[in-house]
Amino acid sequence: MLDNNNLRQLMSEVNKSFYVYDEEEILKSINILKDKFKEFEILYSVKTNPNKHILDLMSKNNIGSDAASAKEVQISNTANINKNNIIYSAPGKRRKDIEESIDKCIITADSYNELSLLNEIGKERNTNLEVGLRINANYNMFGGESISSKYGVDEETLIENKNFIDNLSNIEVVGIHVHLQSQILDYEIIYNYYEYVLKLALFCKEKMKFNLKFINFGGGLGISYGNSYGNLDIDKLSKMSNELIKKYKQKLNARFIIESGRFLVCKSGAYVTPIIDIKESRGRKYLIVQNGYNGFFKPTISELIVSYTNKKDNLKMMEPLFTSYDSYTISLIKREDKEENNKEIVTIGGNLCTAVDILARDILLTKAEINDLIFINNAGSYAYSLTPLSFSSQEKPVEIYYTSKDYHVID
Ligand SMILES: Cc1ncc(COP(=O)(O)O)c(C=O)c1O
Repeated sequence: MLDNNNLRQLMSEVNKSFYVYDEEEILKSINILKDKFKEFEILYSVKTNPNKHILDLMSKNNIGSDAASAKEVQISNTANINKNNIIYSAPGKRRKDIEESIDKCIITADSYNELSLLNEIGKERNTNLEVGLRINANYNMFGGESISSKYGVDEETLIENKNFIDNLSNIEVVGIHVHLQSQILDYEIIYNYYEYVLKLALFCKEKMKFNLKFINFGGGLGISYGNSYGNLDIDKLSKMSNELIKKYKQKLNARFIIESGRFLVCKSGAYVTPIIDIKESRGRKYLIVQNGYNGFFKPTISELIVSYTNKKDNLKMMEPLFTSYDSYTISLIKREDKEENNKEIVTIGGNLCTAVDILARDILLTKAEINDLIFINNAGSYAYSLTPLSFSSQEKPVEIYYTSKDYHVID
């Protein structure tokens, strides 16, 4: 685990804002999922953090890829992830995206139009393409009405489209993909959802006559971010889910797949940015850091949401942009290894010429000096890839992949 001396040392080397991803932490999470979910295959959701070294680590550990763009298929391919373990699922794929990816992965169609397009491409290539189909399940994890969604095809439209699908002579639907929600902490909610997806898979096999080779349950495994979070009971969930799969295994005879992003990488990452200036305005103390929201966007979104709602608790999640106000912790690392026991209330802003470039407002922090470092945890997922890094043409943070032996810097 990285300590403050490691972080000071890294700052001396790169001399700018950085993200650091700790390989040891990622490996721990990989091993938890692999050890617990024995009946499942795991795909890494690349959009969470497409860092090349992370993809290489996933590949070495037999974790496949949940790719959400042609580029993510290519990145996964470069990391030597097997074609059968790269599943490309996203709305709005263009012909170009499909053509670039078709030989490198399994494509999951997101609409009936896309099934036609895939069929057309199959015909042109004089081949029969095996594809998946994303289904917007007629199910609400929280017991309310099923939701309208831009993803997939509604479950209740399947039967009326059976003839249409059967007549697509150059494709065969061999898999289904369902994903309803991320960051779920209640194991029973996830378990019940898995059970529903298995019943849906049986329907697809028996009534739709899909020759199912994979059932992709999507993501949803939540993590404990801050004080207001419990932990997902992975032990209970995995035990019950493995038993559930054993019941359906013979009937379905397919691959059972779950996707995960944040569980695998979130806690491995931190964002570190140096304090460039310290100033006061009308009673408020400001720490100006090298990169505010052009370094890490989510804290600024949190501040915006709090400023609109005037509350910090029980706010609706808007994944991946907003999880909760306490979904990360901000702390100060003295640049020199010296004791500082005084604390003060500060507001942390960045170098952008916009008033919303605030990472935190009026928080209690160890007394700061110029060149000290602001440290934000839980920055391994939806952080670098979600941030408007180019805004205002300021120098961007670098990414550091840290292993027990060495580290790699990506500019
Ligand atoms: C289809 C799909 N699968 C998996 C994930 C990963 O979710 P998480 O990072 O919460 O594991 C997402 C996230 O948006 C998703 O849309």
